[in-house]
Amino acid sequence: MERGLLVSLVILVCCPSRGVSQTIITQDPGSVTGTEEGEVTVPCTVTGAPPGPVRWYRDTGSGRQYLYSSSPPPPNERNDPRVSLVHQNHATDASIRIVNLTLRDSGTYYCDKYRGFDGSLIASGSGSRLSVQEKFRPPVIEGPQGRVLAGNAVALTCRSNGPPGTKFTWKKNNGTVRGEQSHTVSLQTAKEDIRSTVTCETTDPTTQQTLSSEPYSLGASITVKPHVSIEANPERVKVNESVSLTCRARGFYPERVNVSWVQQGGAVELAAERGENAENEDGTFSRNSVLNVTVTQELSGATVSCRVQIEGLAEPVHKEHRLVETDPKPDQGPEAPCSSSLFLVSVFLLVKLALLAAINAFLFVLLKLEQRRLKRVDAE
Ligand SMILES: *[C@@H]1O[C@H](CO)[C@@H](O)[C@H](O)[C@H]1NC(C)=O
Ligand SMILES: *[C@@H]1O[C@H](CO)[C@@H](O)[C@H](O)[C@H]1NC(C)=O
Ligand SMILES: *[C@@H]1O[C@H](CO)[C@@H](O)[C@H](O)[C@H]1NC(C)=O
Ligand SMILES: *[C@@H]1O[C@H](CO)[C@@H](O)[C@H](O)[C@H]1NC(C)=O
Ligand SMILES: *[C@@H]1O[C@H](CO)[C@@H](O)[C@H](O)[C@H]1NC(C)=O
Repeated sequence: MERGLLVSLVILVCCPSRGVSQTIITQDPGSVTGTEEGEVTVPCTVTGAPPGPVRWYRDTGSGRQYLYSSSPPPPNERNDPRVSLVHQNHATDASIRIVNLTLRDSGTYYCDKYRGFDGSLIASGSGSRLSVQEKFRPPVIEGPQGRVLAGNAVALTCRSNGPPGTKFTWKKNNGTVRGEQSHTVSLQTAKEDIRSTVTCETTDPTTQQTLSSEPYSLGASITVKPHVSIEANPERVKVNESVSLTCRARGFYPERVNVSWVQQGGAVELAAERGENAENEDGTFSRNSVLNVTVTQELSGATVSCRVQIEGLAEPVHKEHRLVETDPKPDQGPEAPCSSSLFLVSVFLLVKLALLAAINAFLFVLLKLEQRRLKRVDAE
């Protein structure tokens, strides 16, 4: 700093002819720095001044703001409670200390000397520039917007307000993720990671202070397809009988899931439920949903499916169940399942086709033989 310039020369507002001693206000250094929530001393020495208060202001022009006075403040002004003189009643030192700094405290601070008896300004300091730096805060991990299926990579970002050169360390389940020193990381996941946590640590390159983020749960950014099955009780029913269907979904999904029962193609919703999943001893989650249904004539050929919608999966995982597996006609004895009767029909048709082909071939051969015989007869 050009110290010479920092010495503000006498600004005699009044009565220079009386030949009072020169008032010199020095604000050195001309710039100071503080840290958010910390404190700072803004310097000022006043020499050669008659008795009277020193007042502090921040900035000039329309942004000029009153802060503090060494005697009661002027009318309609209030001292900032965070500001105090470093030395009370000191002959020359009028430096102030500001505590609990905020970023808004940045600015240029002016130390002004006033005459005691009439309150007129004698001299004004050249100002000392205060810059308040942001406090080094714990970093915050940001995950992806949606979820990805476990097995894919998840991209995480570590947000830090550290200065350039801040070092980043990533940890998964308290173990350092090797080779990852950037503020972003791409982590390969497995379904077990639904319960893993990741933290990011930042180290200030100058102070070596290290701060850790809150643990980030990977379960918030991955999802796992559940296993879904349907159990029917009784296993086989006829028209006009009731059946209790239990849909069991089990997997690594700690979130809420929606389970719904829909009829054929999904047009008719039979039942729907939301809610919490039960946690199993092995750490997986499960959800059972029961649908009791009476199989009316209209429903007899229908298929119902249990749809399990997991957050982050575009499509629900579903399982289908055909309500009546049997031909509902009464006096038909023990009924063969629909699919196997279809099979029998197919086999029957195939056999029939094969027979027809064989007969055709046989007739063709007969025809050829007959033609040859006729030729021979002609030749004779
Ligand atoms: C400074 O902040 C601390 C903690 O927030 C508070 O207890 C204290 O009263 C504050 N001091 C002033 C002068 O505002
Ligand atoms: C990681 O360390 C913290 C604190 O030491 C502990 O509470 C937590 O259980 C640990 N997590 C794992 C997954 O080991
Ligand atoms: C089912 O019940 C309805 C009404 O009770 C009746 O009309 C129908 O014949 C019954 N169907 C069979 C296959 O039992
Ligand atoms: C479904 O039927 C079963 C057996 O018939 C019964 O125990 C159960 O309470 C019923 N559940 C609902 C939701 O109606
Ligand atoms: C479950 O249903 C509710 C209300 O219909 C919906 O807001 C929510 O997103 C659904 N959850 C899932 C995982 O689909």
